[in-house]
Amino acid sequence: MSEKRNDVYIGGVSCLELAKKVSTPLYVFDESKIEKQLNDFKKYFTSDEISCDVIYASKAFTCKAMVELVKKHNCSLDVVSGGELYVAKAIDFPMNRIYFHGNNKTLKELKMALDLGVGTIVLDNPMELDALLKLTNEMKKEIHTLIRVNPGIEAHTHKYIVTAHIDSKFGISIQDKETLVDMITKMNKSEYVKFDGFHAHIGSQIFDMNAYIAEIETLMSFVNDLRNEYDIHMSALNLGGGFAAYYTSADHPIPLNEVCNGIVDTVLKERKKYGLNIKKIMIEPGRSIVANAGSTLYEVGYIKKTKNKKYVFVDGGMSDNIRPALYQADYSCDIVNKIKEVKNEKVCVAGKCCESGDILIEEIMLPKAESGDILIIYTTGAYGYSMASNYNKLARPAVVFTKDGKARIVVERENFEDMISNDCDKEIF
Ligand code: LLP
Repeated sequence: MSEKRNDVYIGGVSCLELAKKVSTPLYVFDESKIEKQLNDFKKYFTSDEISCDVIYASKAFTCKAMVELVKKHNCSLDVVSGGELYVAKAIDFPMNRIYFHGNNKTLKELKMALDLGVGTIVLDNPMELDALLKLTNEMKKEIHTLIRVNPGIEAHTHKYIVTAHIDSKFGISIQDKETLVDMITKMNKSEYVKFDGFHAHIGSQIFDMNAYIAEIETLMSFVNDLRNEYDIHMSALNLGGGFAAYYTSADHPIPLNEVCNGIVDTVLKERKKYGLNIKKIMIEPGRSIVANAGSTLYEVGYIKKTKNKKYVFVDGGMSDNIRPALYQADYSCDIVNKIKEVKNEKVCVAGKCCESGDILIEEIMLPKAESGDILIIYTTGAYGYSMASNYNKLARPAVVFTKDGKARIVVERENFEDMISNDCDKEIF
């Protein structure tokens, strides 16, 4: 992102021009930034001694253009629903590079995965395994699996905790050895369902390298126990995502080379310590690939003073970015057409939704805002568009990719007609 005069340039494209041409609210992604992240993960998460794979977690942001980039950079793809899988299918993403997650995949989704030839199913629970065993027998289709386990390490941004928490909605606690052994034994007897290893995901927006180290140490020690006690063997470990992104000056993400090298080194050390036969490791970044590449442009509407506050109202809100309301997530912003001006007013940036919690930025210093100004909120690339809604029947914004001075719309803005296109009056009984 660069600033020339009173404008902000993303991928060499003027945000003021974009706002004028494509209107607001608008998600703008710097394509080169996404590519750099994909490249850097590939470059740093690598080793001569063990096979390494980077899996993009499409829940952070998915559309055909995004998945094309993942494909172009030879990364794999994490999907959690038939819908996310459909996006991959739509661009002919190599199906053997897909990891299908989710705690409650429907039979229809499992069948779709088998039909399409998805590479790996990440199993969440024993009932799901039973459904998969039955389905693969019927369809005579082979599938690889990982079991999602809960290692009892939970990362909460700057800290991590070791918990005895065994009641997570996701996966199976490593304390529940019996269930895990039972599942693996069933798979080892199956002609079609192949057990490759474990998956774990310990949290999101993780700043603490020690959290990953603790995760790996715990998992490797557990893999060792299973081998020694039950003669159970596995070849792969997927260590999940959670790599932090920079939202505001309070955030200090671990540099990618450090976190990737740290993970690989710890795995190699633990593998050697226990003499294990883990041949492949995977990570699943979502946020860290797309967060910083994305920004949202809004037009300022009315400005309102209350006794203690000055509100700057914008033409979007929680419908295009639920994160401040849902997680009290912090963002920073600027007025694009006043980017060089002194920030001398403390304001609250609020959306237009009918909800008191529809505040995008609680408090920020900006130049004096006026109706018609174009406001940019930074770092909205992850979990913005993907968690957007039509609350208050606000249309989802368009998504634009910019690169080398060129801009293209990759997702159209919804219109009123789109929002009633599924409304109908069909008799059922
Ligand atoms: N793998 C698994 C199994 C996951 O559950 C997740 C995120 C990821 C990978 C990617 O994690 P990331 O690298 O993006 O942190 N809506 C929330 C984030 C939810 C994350 C859910 N799982 C937010 O907006 O902060």
